Amino acid sequence: MSKEERIEKLEQEIMACTKCSLHKTRKNVVVGAGSLDTGVMFIGEAPGFNEDMKGEPFVGRAGGVLDRLLKSVGLERKDIYIANILKCRPPGNRNPTGEEIRACTPYLDEQISIIRPRVLATLGSFPMSYVFGKFGLKEDKIGMVHGKVFSISNLAGIRKIVPLYHPAVATYNPGRMAMLLDDFKVIGELLEGEAKG
Ligand code: URA
Repeated sequence: MSKEERIEKLEQEIMACTKCSLHKTRKNVVVGAGSLDTGVMFIGEAPGFNEDMKGEPFVGRAGGVLDRLLKSVGLERKDIYIANILKCRPPGNRNPTGEEIRACTPYLDEQISIIRPRVLATLGSFPMSYVFGKFGLKEDKIGMVHGKVFSISNLAGIRKIVPLYHPAVATYNPGRMAMLLDDFKVIGELLEGEAKG
């Protein structure tokens, strides 16, 4: 099966998911969006109000910040793939529970293994914890590791993991934008290095 066929099949499965109680309150499932042949996959936390309404990731205010960050390193949404830890909105945008994360992350694992990006960039603490745990990296506070590059080797080859702050931080503290822009430079550098082989 091609990547497109595999993602389509997975999308059908996720759309019909009732593995946790979030399916009762969601308007739309937010599976993920973007290029399946990208070098970088971003992982956010969970859909918010706007994403739940539209069924697409990062379409609200945090999405606007993300677009600005992408643009700063010459990227657009069509150049990347983006998915969340949870595919359904937690009511009132509360934090995901452990049970929800356990129920939903097999879908994210499958997305990662279909897309096989060289770089995984996590947005915020929940995705960082999940991805660090999955690839055997020592858990740390996001304040200590944001913008750093972690190399991991597994059967799929070397991958780089870059923990980033969630773009929403700039929506409640605009002073943080400079730090987000600075951290984002590393994404541009990694992709440039990859293009040069
Ligand atoms: N925040 C996230 O983590 N994901 C989204 O899709 C939107 C906002």
